[in-house]
Amino acid sequence: MFDHIEPAPRDPILGLSESFREDPNPKKINLSVGVYQDATGKTPILESVRQAGKLVLERQKSMSYLPIPGSPAYASAVQRLMFGDGHEAVTSNRAATSHTPGGTGALRVAGDLIHQQFPKATVWFTQPTWPNHPQIFAAAGVPTKSFPYFDAKTNRLAFGEALAAIEKMPAGDVILLHGCCHNPTGIDPTPDEWKKLADAVYGRGLLPLLDFAYQGFADGILEDASGLLAFARPGAELMVCSSFSKNFGLYCERVGALTIVAKDQKAADTVQSQVKAVIRANYSNPPAHGAELVTTVLSDAELRKQWEKEVAQMRDRINGMRELLVKTLQAKGVPGDYSFITRQRGMFSFSGLTPPQVEALRKKYAIYIVGSGRINVAGITEQNVGPLCEAIAEVVK
Ligand code: LMR
Repeated sequence: MFDHIEPAPRDPILGLSESFREDPNPKKINLSVGVYQDATGKTPILESVRQAGKLVLERQKSMSYLPIPGSPAYASAVQRLMFGDGHEAVTSNRAATSHTPGGTGALRVAGDLIHQQFPKATVWFTQPTWPNHPQIFAAAGVPTKSFPYFDAKTNRLAFGEALAAIEKMPAGDVILLHGCCHNPTGIDPTPDEWKKLADAVYGRGLLPLLDFAYQGFADGILEDASGLLAFARPGAELMVCSSFSKNFGLYCERVGALTIVAKDQKAADTVQSQVKAVIRANYSNPPAHGAELVTTVLSDAELRKQWEKEVAQMRDRINGMRELLVKTLQAKGVPGDYSFITRQRGMFSFSGLTPPQVEALRKKYAIYIVGSGRINVAGITEQNVGPLCEAIAEVVK
């Protein structure tokens, strides 16, 4: 039965980590997958999360199943984190949050829901987008298209082109935007541009779907929600896929959320009943532990303060590495102006390196970055930045 099955290509991001693990070169550097590393190259457990872990262990009374959408305490902590305290979407009970296995799980549940409930809808991606977006929605059987987002000539948002494309999207389609720290470009709309995008999206009758995986990695927890808040207008409909892999360092716990914001409580309850049906047929109900950690950190004033400090430390280290990367590229004589890298936000630098240059970095120098030229700045350290920039200098010659 299996004889006809062809091998699948490796995943464009996680497949690189597989190749990295197999690479015997002792000087190898992995700047592919978006995982934060500290100044010593380790991915730490946040202190706030470690403390919460002890409390969870003490307080946990049972390991019975959670409800299909997860625990109500988690849902409410996630909503407060995203929208801030007292937001109308939350106080009017028209937001329904489900705990999903990671942001990817949230996107897949959203994809299945779109497939079932909007069979004619196309999901529109920014050009470029996270390489897993097309895979997830294809697996859910949802047609997809792309619209211009990034201007490679200026390394800026192609705002006018994006707006013009939105004006032509068929009403009833879904538009997938990155809540902050656009992956892979690191280019986000300004608060004013977010408002104009929201006007255009709602004016056209589209459903916004926000992938919100890096809250806190650009400017701050609340500041990074400005895009989301531009969409969460009174009575407006939207969907949000959250991930706590990066901002809580909970990568292996797979903790995320899908939040549906409907026009009123009755509509939210109805949509949520369909979300529950999707989850039940997919993974039944979520794994508890990661969400317990997030709920505990966010519900304890001291732990929350500590967590915000730790997110700020991660953000500051990444921004420091951006500056260092630009300085070292110059020092190693790499031609061109790379100052745009310091304007990019979040974990990644969209370097402009071409696919052949990326391949040469991997084959000749065992330096792993994503095929689009995306470098995980959160993996750069004072130790590896020199060899990285020397290798870049060689491959761009
Ligand atoms: C990334 O883009 O590297 C991260 O979101 C991790 C992943 O799952 O691809």
